[in-house]
Amino acid sequence: MAIEFPKDFLWGAATSSYQIEGAWNEDGKSESNWDRFSHTSGHIIDKSTGDVAVDHYHRWREDVALMAELGLKAYRFSIAWPRVLPSGWGKVNPAGLGFYSRLVDELLSHGIQPLVTLYHWDHPQVLEDRGGWTVRTTAEAFAEYAEVLARQLGDRVTMWATFNEPWVSAFLGYMQGVHAPGHHDLGEAVAATHHLLLAHGWAVPIIRRDSPGSQVGIVLNMAPIVPASSSQADEQAARLSDASLNRMFADPLSGRGYPDELHERYTLPASLVQPGDMQVIKAPLDFVGINYYFRNIVRNNEIAEERNKPREVFPNQEHTEMGWEVYPEGLYELLTRLKHDYDFPAYYITENGAAFPDHVAADGSVDDPRRLAYVKAHLEQAARAIAEGVPLRGYFVWSLMDNFEWAQGYTKRFGIVYVDCATQRRIPKSSARWFQRVIADNAIVG
Ligand code: FCB
Repeated sequence: MAIEFPKDFLWGAATSSYQIEGAWNEDGKSESNWDRFSHTSGHIIDKSTGDVAVDHYHRWREDVALMAELGLKAYRFSIAWPRVLPSGWGKVNPAGLGFYSRLVDELLSHGIQPLVTLYHWDHPQVLEDRGGWTVRTTAEAFAEYAEVLARQLGDRVTMWATFNEPWVSAFLGYMQGVHAPGHHDLGEAVAATHHLLLAHGWAVPIIRRDSPGSQVGIVLNMAPIVPASSSQADEQAARLSDASLNRMFADPLSGRGYPDELHERYTLPASLVQPGDMQVIKAPLDFVGINYYFRNIVRNNEIAEERNKPREVFPNQEHTEMGWEVYPEGLYELLTRLKHDYDFPAYYITENGAAFPDHVAADGSVDDPRRLAYVKAHLEQAARAIAEGVPLRGYFVWSLMDNFEWAQGYTKRFGIVYVDCATQRRIPKSSARWFQRVIADNAIVG
């Protein structure tokens, strides 16, 4: 039986600037935090960089033509801040701005709606040199950057996301050290969290003013958190983990302030949250974008006797090449929880997808049944949530094409379009052809 999606459901694919563009030092672009990070040895598993990536900066027309061929209704991409404001703020680089302006026009001429993410983890290194997200001035610079973009593109772009996954910027960047700038400091991660949210809150009214009638939102990585056992210790660990991953962002955005668990675990420096900040952060949103890949199973590993117990208590689940559990029901669980616990007006799945090894067959085709099955299973769960009244308005597959997967370099392929790194040739995989049919039918048929 066919699973139909609501009329006007927005079908799209997503990418981000550093992962696809390349041209890292062309046309006036300054060095970014990710250029610095990938150029410093020991950070990227295959020692690669985004210097060339999949050369989208030069192949954007061809890439938009491919999107049109696939029938995409929308394309989510991000802007490289160092192309537009190479010094972080101040002087605008017209060549950088021009690139995005042409891209937007090209998309619109094919009837593809752009969803612009202002920040998907790359900012000018000069800002990092002055403390990056650990300092308030970076949030001030971001407000200026948002204004430049909203003024220049606001007449044509009608969907804006301020940030992609601020949790990742703060915690993988400043505490776990696996993303730029590679620090290991909880205090820095907490400060970064607040400054990212503050920058978001400042940007929202600026975008509304300069891009009237547009939809403004933010993209969060959220996941259902499941205790590994019914022990009190594991349940407590799951509660803390939910507070730091999910509620740390969704709560202040919806006006509830930071979760109590943050204050239980950590004393915020008095100067961090200034009067009025929490008001700024709760600026009303038109949508929240959800990036969902897997659920989190949490064990309290602070208890010595628990430490050697298996982490996974839910056997028989498939894993992707990232080692991430395939758990489509989690998308349903997450969306229905959001509907129950928050009153954001709309949601989009702004990322969902899977890395699996791909091979080009002798006839030049790339068959990726596991990725296709992953996307299909998640769409079925999305449809279930819609049927229960969750205001889910669209779905963006991650990713349009294979690209630089951060610390994993080019070792993981997430694209529905295969990219041959040596020749930059693009080959739509069978998942792309399947997705094309889903979009055309506005339904999963069979
Ligand atoms: C998300 C990121 C995206 C990509 C996917 C696999 O966390 O937003 O850039 O790396 O994971």
